[in-house]
Amino acid sequence: MKDILLIGSGGREAAIAWKLRKDGDVGTIYALPGNGGLSETCTNVPIGATDLEAIIKFARTHKVDFAIVTPDNPLVMGLVDRLEAVGIPCFGPSGTAAMLEGSKAFAKNFMKRWDIPTASYEIFSDEGQALDFLASCSYPVVLKANGLAFGKGVSIVQDKDAATMCIKEMMENLKFGQSGQTVVIEELLEGPEVSLLCFTDGTHIKEMVTSMDHKRIGDGDTGPNTGGMGCIAPNPFYTPQIARTCREKILLPTITGMQKEGRSFKGCLYVGLMLTKDGPKVIEYNCRFGDPETQVILPLLESKLLPIMEATRNGTLDRVPIIFSTNRSAACLVLANNGYPISFEKHKEINIPKMKSVVFPSGICKEEGHCYTDGGRVLGLAATALTLKEALQQVYGDAEKISFEGKYYRRDIGQKALEKLGEN
Ligand code: AMP
Ligand code: GLY
Repeated sequence: MKDILLIGSGGREAAIAWKLRKDGDVGTIYALPGNGGLSETCTNVPIGATDLEAIIKFARTHKVDFAIVTPDNPLVMGLVDRLEAVGIPCFGPSGTAAMLEGSKAFAKNFMKRWDIPTASYEIFSDEGQALDFLASCSYPVVLKANGLAFGKGVSIVQDKDAATMCIKEMMENLKFGQSGQTVVIEELLEGPEVSLLCFTDGTHIKEMVTSMDHKRIGDGDTGPNTGGMGCIAPNPFYTPQIARTCREKILLPTITGMQKEGRSFKGCLYVGLMLTKDGPKVIEYNCRFGDPETQVILPLLESKLLPIMEATRNGTLDRVPIIFSTNRSAACLVLANNGYPISFEKHKEINIPKMKSVVFPSGICKEEGHCYTDGGRVLGLAATALTLKEALQQVYGDAEKISFEGKYYRRDIGQKALEKLGEN
């Protein structure tokens, strides 16, 4: 039985811990820092995901057998390199490979070098030049902070005045700190979005079942972007023909390009795609599992997770079975706090009765046996069924049974997919 170090605290980490327990081949799972709702599957340890020194010390003292690093920040900071250097095998890319997510400028230039389809763009580190460029843009355009910004660094602006304000906020007022000192200005892409995640060991690539996130806070894709309000899988817009195009024109060149640049990527590569009328194009790379994507992907994974994770590190991905259910669909509904992603109250008691959906806690703390809200996204409800419609009915039915003050969730998760499938 292997003892596992699991870095992070969200619904994604809850889904990973749930899957490892379901597979039944792990000992203690230490979640750093974890969350109160995880205490049934994990041992929570109050060490932050970016406290690299404390993490290394803990991992060595407790002689963990394997580490799973899923949040973006510690990956970009090089936690995997540090753990590997002290002899702890890890799931996750090195710091240099994580640059695919850590710097949007790097990712865009990388795609240009390897002829990978993406939105046309310009990069600016000088505010005056960025502002001058706005005069020649056709609107709307997309403005992106170069570095990590808690998923909030992307703005779609309708005209030059809004773009000017946004550039000033990022480059002058440093709204996203150093992350916004360099900005990417890019063409707006249109079409259905697909989250394409794959396992890779730096050479071999195995695609996971695709999914569709719902990033905006409001129904009908309105209001600000969030970490993700719900997800469905498989994504019905992703046809076998599109899958072949993506493998050939996006995944293979990405993995071989990274290898040839000395940044061999191992772990989970997440490609955010837009299926435009000119074919699939990359919106963004993430160097990790998505949240809530993981909450629909792992319930559909029939193979054991840990051997796959180990194979990504050992270069043996071609030798492990990776089988996803072919006849089931999955849905995840995120229950958030009213006011998220801007401002919201916390510490309201949560009541979760027994239910059929799996509960993946994210913003929950536990005190004397009681659960309280402790974050913007409070929990995810996940279900699988023979049809997407049934899976959605189950999570929506169970969402009503959970009570806490300020409970908010979108009412239209999966609607576009149901329309596409003709199941609505
Ligand atoms: P990101 O933070 O890079 O995940 O982007 C957040 C969201 O912004 C994406 O999921 C898209 O919905 C949207 N987005 C990013 N880039 C573009 C683009 N070039 N065109 C249209 N939408 C975009
Ligand atoms: N759900 C989007 C992300 O994990 O970045």
